Amino acid sequence: MKPAIQTFDLTKKYGDLVAVDSLNLEVQQGEIYGFLGPNGAGKTTTILMLLGLTEPTSGRLSVLGFNPLREPLKLKRLVGYLPENLGFYDDMTARQNLLYTARLNGISMVDAEDRIRKLLEDVGLSDAVDKKVSTFSKGMKQRLGMADVLLKDPKLMLLDEPTTGIDPEGVRHILNLIVESREKGKTVLLSSHLLYQVQKVCDRVGIFVKGRLIASGSIQHLGKEVIAGDKYVVEAEVPDATPALEEIIGRVEGVVKVSRSGSTLTIECRSDIRGKVAKAIVSSGYTLTQIRSHEYALDEIYSRYFEGESKS
Ligand SMILES: Nc1ncnc2c1ncn2[C@@H]1O[C@H](COP(=O)(O)OP(=O)(O)OP(=O)(O)O)[C@@H](O)[C@H]1O
Ligand SMILES: [Mg+2]
Repeated sequence: MKPAIQTFDLTKKYGDLVAVDSLNLEVQQGEIYGFLGPNGAGKTTTILMLLGLTEPTSGRLSVLGFNPLREPLKLKRLVGYLPENLGFYDDMTARQNLLYTARLNGISMVDAEDRIRKLLEDVGLSDAVDKKVSTFSKGMKQRLGMADVLLKDPKLMLLDEPTTGIDPEGVRHILNLIVESREKGKTVLLSSHLLYQVQKVCDRVGIFVKGRLIASGSIQHLGKEVIAGDKYVVEAEVPDATPALEEIIGRVEGVVKVSRSGSTLTIECRSDIRGKVAKAIVSSGYTLTQIRSHEYALDEIYSRYFEGESKS
């Protein structure tokens, strides 16, 4: 299967400023990919190039098999875009705005009415269907933006900070809609500063700094690369753990370091030796209730990257 998005040394310069620097990105079909990075990192500029709305300075790209600059109209039908700054008609209602989108996209009016009602319900705007957008809060507009993207039933969704300004309940709605879209085989690229949300829904993430994609991969992969290096971190739950047990585990071949916080033992090893560690715990007469690989948190990874950046 061809990737949904492929870029080769994609670069965008504004005068002397390199907004996007030799980006090589591949997003697979059916994947949710998260763009992370501080303000001005180049996330929006990349999305605009993928849409054919900004011309690259150099490099090549393919989106759903099309060149966005050469075939923008074909692409437009297949791609749903949620911009950073939403443009709705203020003096029209939520429903009227979506009907307008439906008409532009050749959706029959009979279908459109039903779908719009359902979508506005999905994004939590049932009570605001016939209210003018001029009376909407930022979060309500953002929810309407998601409904607008989904109305087209696009193959690929490019969402620039989809949950900014939305309350926790609304965020849950939106994230669910994104995950449901993946279940329907759609590809989603989203940009965000909200690490916890990205961690919850994305299959892979890319970290952008000053126009460069400095890392890309699953959270588990980035965690290993950035934090653990060639170490492997195992966590064991032992309710009756004692300092003596720490010593026993420390003597297991391949264990580098053992630390304990209450009943949780954190064991750094040279490879995945969960079996050996479990055996040592149980055969010494302790109760092992769980043993697992350490799951990295994206904020842990992200802050390590920036610690590294500020030192270099
Ligand atoms: N039209 C433009 N003209 C000149 N410079 C621009 C233009 N658009 C973006 N830039 C610059 O390009 C860089 C990348 O901007 P971009 O909007 O892509 O960042 P971003 O990662 O989306 O940031 P944010 O998280 O704040 O949305 C910034 O330094 C910005 O000032
Ligand atoms: Mg942006």
